[in-house]
Amino acid sequence: MSANKAVVYKGPYTIKVEDIGYPEMKVKGKSVNHGVILQILATNICGSDLHMYRGRTDIEPQTPLGHEITGMVIEKGHDVEQLEIGDIVSVPFNVACGRCRNCKGQDTHICLTTNDLKPGAAYGFAEMGPWQGGQAEYIFVPYADFNLLKFPDREMAREKLIELTMLSDIFPTGFHGAITAGVGVGATVYIAGAGPVGLCAAISSYLLGAACVIIGDTNNDRLEHAQNTLGCETINLTEHEVIRDQIAEILRVPEVDCAIDAIGYEAHGHGHKSNREVPSDALDTIVSVTRSGGHLGVPGVYLSLDPKSASLTGKIGRPAFEFGRAWDKGLSIATGQTPVMRYNRQLMTAILFDRVKLSRILNTTPISFEQAEEAYSQFEQGVAQKFVFDPQGLLRQQVPHRREAALTGYQAE
Ligand SMILES: NC(=O)c1ccc[n+]([C@@H]2O[C@H](COP(=O)([O-])OP(=O)(O)OC[C@H]3O[C@@H](n4cnc5c(N)ncnc54)[C@H](O)[C@@H]3O)[C@@H](O)[C@H]2O)c1
Ligand SMILES: [Zn+2]
Ligand SMILES: [Zn+2]
Repeated sequence: MSANKAVVYKGPYTIKVEDIGYPEMKVKGKSVNHGVILQILATNICGSDLHMYRGRTDIEPQTPLGHEITGMVIEKGHDVEQLEIGDIVSVPFNVACGRCRNCKGQDTHICLTTNDLKPGAAYGFAEMGPWQGGQAEYIFVPYADFNLLKFPDREMAREKLIELTMLSDIFPTGFHGAITAGVGVGATVYIAGAGPVGLCAAISSYLLGAACVIIGDTNNDRLEHAQNTLGCETINLTEHEVIRDQIAEILRVPEVDCAIDAIGYEAHGHGHKSNREVPSDALDTIVSVTRSGGHLGVPGVYLSLDPKSASLTGKIGRPAFEFGRAWDKGLSIATGQTPVMRYNRQLMTAILFDRVKLSRILNTTPISFEQAEEAYSQFEQGVAQKFVFDPQGLLRQQVPHRREAALTGYQAE
């Protein structure tokens, strides 16, 4: 059988590329016929991988990482009816059975059968089931008819691969953040975090009709990038103690309609605390800057246990944020992994019809497996880039045209 090169977690801040063996069509050791083997065409590094890379999860050394996968069907089980060999597909990062109560209700992020530990499963992820990581050359995808999004045209899929690769996670995740924050026409939006998820939340907010999108981060390169490519208003959080004052400078009122936490449990503080971790910083900020009756989308990941947290409450998975103030203001808070399947088809169409140019917004950078260690290290340090492994060499020709408008009809400065 062919080898299967993959990015393998070895311990904190250490990954290696190794042969993990060709995948088998098995679930819990039993052969199944509802899955496919994919040759992977694009697979991205995510901020979620960084939690594991930093040793902030209990992932076992030797686990292959990666959950943002696009590939071509090269083998299929007898029970697969909707897919053919050669089809190009996006793999939602949620592993879902399509049969349980939650999957039937479109809540594929909390599938009840694909992870023995808790609801919800993903590829290559701490506590998210036994599924192989997708930063590899080949992968087995179970329940393939249910899980996979097939691109309608193979040639077009190859041509737009650098855009479509974001459908497996971060584009739906940013969109979910915006939808759950209640973004609509004329909305004002604050996004905590200018990483790839924050940028996807920003472009999603514009797609949904937002009038003004403000992004806060302590990383100035990322803020400049957000301003240059998307025309977002930005707040450099290292320079300010009271974020409401900065919002008021931009909007003339100190509160937005909608806010999104695109950071999670490894948030650092702002102002004089910006050089250290403050797990509740993002939550407290979005509670503080959102108008009463508003909605908060929280795609940023929080854990039920985080022994290495900077705070005592964080260690036991209870970041002490201002819940009382949130309650007083009557805020709605949406949490959890993204149910990718709820959004990936409509967002695929937005990409195929050039409504959105993600590669420019995300500064998408194709890389080889040989560059894995360097890419993880740079991404962890906060470069304004989204790295995508390019195992078949299809992406190298697709690096974005820097002067193109990010969104059709919307001309960035
Ligand atoms: N819910 C889901 O399904 C889902 C899917 C994908 C990613 N995520 C999560 O979304 C989060 C963001 O992902 P990413 O890829 O953009 O990660 P990232 O680490 O690249 O970006 C996070 C950004 O937040 C900034 N930041 C840190 N503390 C801050 C603060 N207090 N205020 C403002 N900005 C702050 C950092 O400087 C960084 O630029 C991660 O927690 C990731 O695990 C969740
Ligand atoms: Zn991801
Ligand atoms: Zn299920």
